[in-house]
Amino acid sequence: MNRIFSGVQPTGNLHLGNYLGAIRNWVDLQDDYDCIFCIVDLHALTLPQDPEELRTHTREVTAAYLASGIDPEKCIIFNQSSVPGHSELAWLFACITPLGWLNRMTQFKEKAGKHRENAGLGLYAYPVLMAADILLYKATHVPVGEDQKQHLELSRDIAGAFNRQFETEYFPLPEPQILGEAARVMSLRDGSNKMSKSDPSDYSRINMTDDADTIALKVRRARTDPEPLPETVEGLEGRPEAANLIGIYASLSRTSRAEVLATFGGKMFSEFKDALATLAVETLGPIGGEMQRLLAEPGHVDGVLHRGSERAGEIARHHLSEIHRIVGLLRP
Ligand code: AMP
Ligand code: TRP
Repeated sequence: MNRIFSGVQPTGNLHLGNYLGAIRNWVDLQDDYDCIFCIVDLHALTLPQDPEELRTHTREVTAAYLASGIDPEKCIIFNQSSVPGHSELAWLFACITPLGWLNRMTQFKEKAGKHRENAGLGLYAYPVLMAADILLYKATHVPVGEDQKQHLELSRDIAGAFNRQFETEYFPLPEPQILGEAARVMSLRDGSNKMSKSDPSDYSRINMTDDADTIALKVRRARTDPEPLPETVEGLEGRPEAANLIGIYASLSRTSRAEVLATFGGKMFSEFKDALATLAVETLGPIGGEMQRLLAEPGHVDGVLHRGSERAGEIARHHLSEIHRIVGLLRP
């Protein structure tokens, strides 16, 4: 059976982009694949984190998976650091990854900023650890938002480099699954920036834990342009804020942008925003409520992670012993 691996960093402020670009797609895929969903806490450490908040956010992402409908009986849900094999395979991959490949990574350039010399080695090696996450389980499919496309191409390159170097076909080349009308949700304040956990303005994003009033207020305050909505998808060209809101509506209602414009084309933003706010509250409201309920009893969430890390660890240990044999490491 084909296997899925994907993950979210426990860095707080889980938002509508994480939900529509990633988590909701996982819910849809869980019946057709053998699924492993990770909370990638080691990736979070590539930028400074407060220890207590890191623990809280790890439980929060787990609660978001469960509240969104990921079934821990069907899928493995665990946190990355609880399976030591991720770090180990990342080292083996670090030894076969040319610096030139890493130098192309745009996310490193964005996150390192101007003072690249001060950026940590972990931030630089981030995509190597990501390749290890996926390939430790020999996953064949990786559902992610569009921003992870380049990292996934690198994972494929690393799998290929390993297979060539050791003359094997051990690792599959994992396929990205970038799905739906909201694979890249943009900021509500600026249609040319991605919606992101780290944007200083809370009005730039809809958080998965926002209450109904907050969601409605954020939608109403979202930036727009003065024209009425266009009748066709082509009419969204050069109107990034309109394109973003229409894409969000299409994704939430599981239709296409063309269908949304068939209803709202020619109308003013105010009317459309009322409908969008209602739809967003209907979708996210119950999930946020369920997250709060789960977080009030962390014992349950921790139990899910514990069981998940046992199941993940078993697969990881089995694969790592094969990988050791392939590369020539002795297990006396
Ligand atoms: P991160 O928050 O960086 O850990 O991302 C977790 C998942 O959410 C990844 O699959 C990302 O591609 C996806 N994601 C993050 N931000 C967005 C966004 N603005 N639009 C769509 N998907 C996103
Ligand atoms: N880098 C991904 C992100 O920020 C998170 C991630 C880490 C991931 N390891 C992964 C996603 C493996 C898919 C598969 O969104």
